[in-house]
Amino acid sequence: MSSQQTYDFVIAANRLPVDRHVHPDGSTEWRTAPGGLVTAMDSVMRGWESGAAWVGWAGFPGEAPEPFDDGKLRLHPVPLSGKELSDYYEGFSNDTLWPLYHDVIVAPTFHRSWFTCYRTINQRFADAVCEVAAEGAQVWIHDYQLQLVPAMVRDQRPDLRIGWFNHIPFPPVELFAQLPWRATVLRGLLGADFLGFQRPDDARNFARSCRAVLGATTKGDKVEWAGADDGRLGAAPRTVRAAAVPISIDASGFRELADSPEVQARAEEIRESLGDPDVVLLGVDRLDYTKGIRHRLRAIGELFEDGEISPDQVTFVQVATPSRERVEAYRTLREQIEGMVGRINGDVSHLGATAVHYLHQSYGREEMAALFQVADVMLVTPLRDGMNLVAKEYVTARHDGGGALVLSEFTGAAEEMPQAYRCNPHDIAGLKETILQAIRDEPAEKERRMRGLRRRVRKHDVQTWAQDFLAGLAAAPEKPGRGGSK
Ligand code: ADP
Ligand code: G6P
Repeated sequence: MSSQQTYDFVIAANRLPVDRHVHPDGSTEWRTAPGGLVTAMDSVMRGWESGAAWVGWAGFPGEAPEPFDDGKLRLHPVPLSGKELSDYYEGFSNDTLWPLYHDVIVAPTFHRSWFTCYRTINQRFADAVCEVAAEGAQVWIHDYQLQLVPAMVRDQRPDLRIGWFNHIPFPPVELFAQLPWRATVLRGLLGADFLGFQRPDDARNFARSCRAVLGATTKGDKVEWAGADDGRLGAAPRTVRAAAVPISIDASGFRELADSPEVQARAEEIRESLGDPDVVLLGVDRLDYTKGIRHRLRAIGELFEDGEISPDQVTFVQVATPSRERVEAYRTLREQIEGMVGRINGDVSHLGATAVHYLHQSYGREEMAALFQVADVMLVTPLRDGMNLVAKEYVTARHDGGGALVLSEFTGAAEEMPQAYRCNPHDIAGLKETILQAIRDEPAEKERRMRGLRRRVRKHDVQTWAQDFLAGLAAAPEKPGRGGSK
């Protein structure tokens, strides 16, 4: 009998909210983990009243640290060996699922051994969840790295209420069907009572895949599956709900931060250090091929070359957080982007007037808020993105009424932010025109747009998102204790 303390609310995500970094001198430091999932869930959990546990990886290979407390939150590190990191995280999660779920922008790689490892690690997460979940607890599982966990948890613990939220897009069945393990993945997901997606289209894509691959029936947001007589994962009949619950940011917290005298002063300092240009264009992304950074650079480079904008008046700052650096597609992307930045600067910058400032670094929230204040035009141009929190952070930080947001129509954010300067990043000529329009429009027009955008984010913040998700979970068709998959 384990003496493990148990919790009524358990989160499972590939990453813990913090990563452990080991410095060359052997000293260690915990830093906020990268990405939108952690940004959002960290905000939700900071406002959480009762105790909760978060099961996740601590950001480095080898033995996991002992569980520890972070405020009211109990962190349960799950170990990953170097080989598991390479097969489960870099391989199946980020070289198979990530490109497949993002419109096949780069070709997904299919390796049977990677999937075997993915299954093993998902089982490890499921076992850790079952260990810390109290009788009848709510379990909230996150993202594409843990799609088998819902059924694996249900098989052991039919008493639990299980939710899963997908932070990234769910692909159309025509793409999803390429996955050799498509039926196993869907059966894994159907272990959840409630499945949340960023957009109605993602929820529909999931329902269509369940129909096409498993022969499930769907009505509204309900998915019913008759089960299978094969004793494999998730074999029992299931009735679940799948709906859109778009994620957001801690709008009041971020606004307060952006409003602080320190951030305001830092914003002035940044503008000055850039040579106080008339127009600052900004891009802030993880260095990921889904973010459309190459397309953005191509458009900006041409605008400088055409003479539509001049480095004497306009400068572009691109902040790119290092990401998944051992995956080939990410290494190639970095080389391409750095080559493009070098070429543009070599061709059009002159002393004292740099066209493109490129920072391959990660910054704290204060620095981010200061950068947003400096940006006259924010460029959010992904080729595909589940939501994109940067767009929401930007409009929240610019509560002075200034600024302009250029937003790709291929982001989840575009559905909620119709007042943005909308663009198709594949259309370089169109993108150039949109950037110019965002620079040149009258201040009154820009203010009108920003007002609408800010209102939307204020009304639908991260707390609303979490409440909506948990309400969906509470109202899901399967009652705890019923519908186990054995
Ligand atoms: P993704 O989850 O794909 O990385 P999002 O835009 O949804 O994309 O979320 C990214 C989060 O990471 C945002 O909160 C953003 O402010 C933060 N972020 C992005 N780039 C940096 C950076 N260079 N330094 C620090 N934080 C960053
Ligand atoms: C996206 C994904 C998250 C992931 C984050 C950072 O936001 O949805 O699941 O944590 O990117 O990526 P990484 O691979 O560094 O965890």
